[in-house]
Amino acid sequence: MKIKYTIPIVFFMALVIIEKENNIISRVSDKLKQTPQTSLQSNSLSDLLLEHSGSRLPPGKRNITLMKWRLEDYSEQKALKRGRKHILLLATTRTGSSFVGEFFNQQGDNMFYLFEPLWHVEKMLTLESGGTNATAAAKAYRDVLQQLFLCDFSLLESFIDPLPVDHITAALFRRESSSSLCEKAVCSPVVKGVFERYHCKTRRCGPLNLTMASESCLKKEHIAIKSVRVRQLDTLRPLTEDPRLDVKFIQLVRDPRAILASRMVAFATKYKNWKEWAMGGNVPIDDDEVRKLKGNCDNIRMSAKIGLRQPLWLRGRYMLVRYEDIARFPMKKASEMYRFTGIPFTPQVKSWILKNTQASKETSGVYSTQKNSSEQVEKWRFKLPFKIAQVVQKVCGPTLKLFGYKFVSSEEMLTNKSVSLIEDKVFNF
Ligand SMILES: *[C@@H]1O[C@H](CO)[C@@H](O)[C@H](O)[C@H]1NC(C)=O
Ligand SMILES: *[C@@H]1O[C@H](CO)[C@@H](O)[C@H](O)[C@H]1NC(C)=O
Ligand SMILES: *[C@@H]1O[C@H](CO)[C@@H](O)[C@H](O)[C@H]1NC(C)=O
Ligand SMILES: *[C@@H]1O[C@H](CO)[C@@H](O)[C@H](O)[C@H]1NC(C)=O
Ligand SMILES: *[C@@H]1O[C@H](CO)[C@@H](O)[C@H](O)[C@H]1NC(C)=O
Repeated sequence: MKIKYTIPIVFFMALVIIEKENNIISRVSDKLKQTPQTSLQSNSLSDLLLEHSGSRLPPGKRNITLMKWRLEDYSEQKALKRGRKHILLLATTRTGSSFVGEFFNQQGDNMFYLFEPLWHVEKMLTLESGGTNATAAAKAYRDVLQQLFLCDFSLLESFIDPLPVDHITAALFRRESSSSLCEKAVCSPVVKGVFERYHCKTRRCGPLNLTMASESCLKKEHIAIKSVRVRQLDTLRPLTEDPRLDVKFIQLVRDPRAILASRMVAFATKYKNWKEWAMGGNVPIDDDEVRKLKGNCDNIRMSAKIGLRQPLWLRGRYMLVRYEDIARFPMKKASEMYRFTGIPFTPQVKSWILKNTQASKETSGVYSTQKNSSEQVEKWRFKLPFKIAQVVQKVCGPTLKLFGYKFVSSEEMLTNKSVSLIEDKVFNF
């Protein structure tokens, strides 16, 4: 009886292992195909390795020590690739996603981090009306992300304006926000007379060579991408089904009332009508803006609902994080995020968090000299007119409820410091 089951199981496991090996070998050969200058006709694995190690001497003159070392290196690489994680930090604007992205950008030499690569895709797909075709954009975002997770920039390149020449571009959006795109291995010599708006700050580099970026990416253990552009989590389902990827989604959310308060400061002219209306003027709230607000809240809520429901395709791949919890307990939350991804939480990340927050106080519970982060988190309450808070509550009610943000029923409650609007809530288990 037992043997009857054991044999198919062993057979199945063997198939799984063979499948994984095949993936790795095909990935190695894919990589070699990308660099035509090394593409001698080669079929066997050892030929591939020889080329890979750059040792193109005639057989008699090959350095055996070096070859052996490369072989060991290869099996090590193989082991690393097996644990490779593909992290996608999903957020909307004004949720502190740049800050949270730093948790991964600061990880160190093992991480390849990209900051908003989909900016180019959205820009290219923006219609004259100002928006994008959501269906077309979702598909493009997904395909570009999938390729980027495999360290392939070719589809992204087709969205960069001006189009890169020989995989070289001086126009990659916010290159300097990604330490991986400014490290030595990806830094080519400065070219006189080429203007680079997003130039590296840590060292002087010439235009970005995406072939170099891709090579560097392949050498890293993990890859993380931050994006505020994906609308619906389920459009990314194919990424979870790609056997070459081990995707981890982290969705970052924030109180929509706070987001709006922040937007009203950042885009003051856009919200002129809202302000006048709130002050008792006659200008009605622009319906379009309300519709947009509702659309955003609904998208965020629907994505989170799918994630929290943990369907099979998302099992172990989804984590929800509130901005407010990160602002109050950055070290605790960062370590939870790392535990979720299965990547070690490095001392570099810890020290970056210590330097940039008051996390040292977090454990002892003593807030002192620096900004009081609980207070910081709720500062918006003194900026947002109560009438506008009411509009948000009406339009985004279910979203507030799902994430544990308390409704305010009066101006007094909105501005009463002893009432917290953040309920304690645990989303992930
Ligand atoms: C072969 O390569 C190893 C490792 O790089 C080096 O230590 C050794 O000196 C090389 N031997 C010869 C004969 O070039
Ligand atoms: C949006 O794009 C999809 C797919 O490309 C297309 O089928 C559809 O007609 C487009 N919708 C609009 C309103 O343009
Ligand atoms: C870009 O990098 C690749 C890989 O290192 C190199 O082969 C290529 O010559 C570089 N391109 C330019 C224009 O420097
Ligand atoms: C920080 O803010 C919280 C919440 O408003 C409050 O309970 C705490 O006493 C404040 N701490 C300091 C040192 O101001
Ligand atoms: C603020 O809230 C506390 C706790 O609910 C309440 O006791 C207090 O009276 C409120 N203060 C004002 C000014 O409404």
